[in-house]
Amino acid sequence: MDSNTIQTHIVPRTDLDFGLDGDIPRYWLDGHPFKTRFVDALSMTFPIGERFFISSVRRYRDQITDPQQLAEVRDFMRQEGQHGIVHNQWNDRLREQGVPVDAIEQFCDRFFKWQLGNLPQSWPLVYTASVEHLTAIMADAVFGNASFLQGADERMRAVFAWHAIEEFEHKAVAFDVMQKTAKVGYFTRVGIMAAAVITFQVLTLHFLGKVLKSDGFSFGQRARLWASGMWWLYKPVGGVFSRMAPAVLQYFKPGFHPTHIKEPACYRVWNESYENSGDPLQASRSTLLAA
Ligand SMILES: [Fe+2]
Ligand SMILES: [Fe+2]
Repeated sequence: MDSNTIQTHIVPRTDLDFGLDGDIPRYWLDGHPFKTRFVDALSMTFPIGERFFISSVRRYRDQITDPQQLAEVRDFMRQEGQHGIVHNQWNDRLREQGVPVDAIEQFCDRFFKWQLGNLPQSWPLVYTASVEHLTAIMADAVFGNASFLQGADERMRAVFAWHAIEEFEHKAVAFDVMQKTAKVGYFTRVGIMAAAVITFQVLTLHFLGKVLKSDGFSFGQRARLWASGMWWLYKPVGGVFSRMAPAVLQYFKPGFHPTHIKEPACYRVWNESYENSGDPLQASRSTLLAA
């Protein structure tokens, strides 16, 4: 391991209570339908997506002999399992609002099952490693002045803070199984990352369109929401995706390893606060104050 690498402990945290059954407003992100429903659309895909990540890594578990790596795989699965539980709780709230969660979940389920059943065995794992890179760099986007969660309800912010922290912790697990066990080379890795970046955006925006429709906005209202929302996502300076682009592109460097990802400034503050309070809401509040 070279001197640029950063090793992080994977700590599965269980039984977290974010108060998701509380009085969270429908448009909990800055009171903005597009921003809120964009994050909702993303969040909606997590439980099915995380089940797929677990399956694609689990297929290689029997071939792993290193006890350290096996422990990391186990903790990765436990963390992803917990993420699925919490995002499912949010999905229940979305269902109550009339959001077509079931149709979106069925679509994702078919897409992932198709990958597991029809593609070369390593490709779902390579896809997982790609998406794991996208989620590993999420922490920097959650906190700070440029956060895409500015104006968020604190309970939802806390969910994304905890999720981002744990994604940072297990960032290397799928990648290591892909390289050390499945022996996947550079071109497959970056080719599938390019496909993942495209499908991730296309599918999230497709689901977002369905959700905004289900909210009852007229065509004209939706057109205005899309115009301002796409600018928020893609404006060249300060857009949600534009800001993430340099960190995404890191993955395309030959010799890249997830331990090269810089530790987000919020990591230590969140961890310390969570260890002292055992409360993910408090940890998120402390991190926001320190940002
Ligand atoms: Fe996750
Ligand atoms: Fe993950």
